[in-house]
Amino acid sequence: MQIATTIEEVRTLVKSWKKEGCTVGLVPTMGYLHEGHGSLISRAREENDKVVVSIFVNPMQFGPGEDLDSYPRDLEKDSAYCESLGADLIFHPEPSEMYTEGFCSYVDMSVLTEELCGLSRPVHFRGVCTVVNKLFNIVAPDRAYFGQKDAQQLAVIRRMVEDLNMDIQIVGCPIVREEDGLAKSSRNTYLSAEERQAALVLSCAVTCGQELVAAGETDAKKIVAQMKALIEQEPMARIDYVKAVDGLTMQQIDTVKKPMLVALAVYIGKTRLIDNFIV
Ligand code: PAF
Repeated sequence: MQIATTIEEVRTLVKSWKKEGCTVGLVPTMGYLHEGHGSLISRAREENDKVVVSIFVNPMQFGPGEDLDSYPRDLEKDSAYCESLGADLIFHPEPSEMYTEGFCSYVDMSVLTEELCGLSRPVHFRGVCTVVNKLFNIVAPDRAYFGQKDAQQLAVIRRMVEDLNMDIQIVGCPIVREEDGLAKSSRNTYLSAEERQAALVLSCAVTCGQELVAAGETDAKKIVAQMKALIEQEPMARIDYVKAVDGLTMQQIDTVKKPMLVALAVYIGKTRLIDNFIV
């Protein structure tokens, strides 16, 4: 496995692979990898001749006062993990390599980004769309892999690829959970032992919502209300949002319909965690 820090190195290597007729899978990440990322890398390994993992904490997708500086980083551990899963290349650029002086071109999206996380993180999706676009241009993958845990991000990227006619297959992969149900996230490391326990309220709310749908509840507002009531019982939890939306457009819906995304963002202490389920 190789580690590249420049765009030039990546382009040269990918060009040589493509000359040999190899397919390329890209797993974009911000590092501090866990089994959720691992499932994306393994899937990419199964479906492509070559696998590239990008590790880049993208400053553009963090708003003022967010956790850009404290976002956990451990390249050595990440490299060993990627190698163990059979990745061929890690792309780990410096911010100055990705955003050269005078940088002023952005990929922006309306509608899908105006709900859920887009409301509380107004610059987030512009940063995500811009960096993912750049990564697609640099790596030129046949397939790119994203987790369902960031369900709105996945929907936004699918929309961007369709709207901008990008010839890349977007593969969404299921949420990977800890044994007790907490969705795996690099941000789980911020939680104290007590907060870690309180954070289980997110997956409990997801289970509650899923059970209501399975029992035949069709009123999306009732589902959301019961999930909120459950979360409010946890004193360490503060709800950012719990919403039922159309799974493609991210617009709020009142009646259960397929595809529906029920998504939640909840602060446990200072840490903002997300979870969701799809119907
Ligand atoms: O999901 C993430 O880790 C990031 O948003 C992504 C897709 C790597 C873009 O920086």
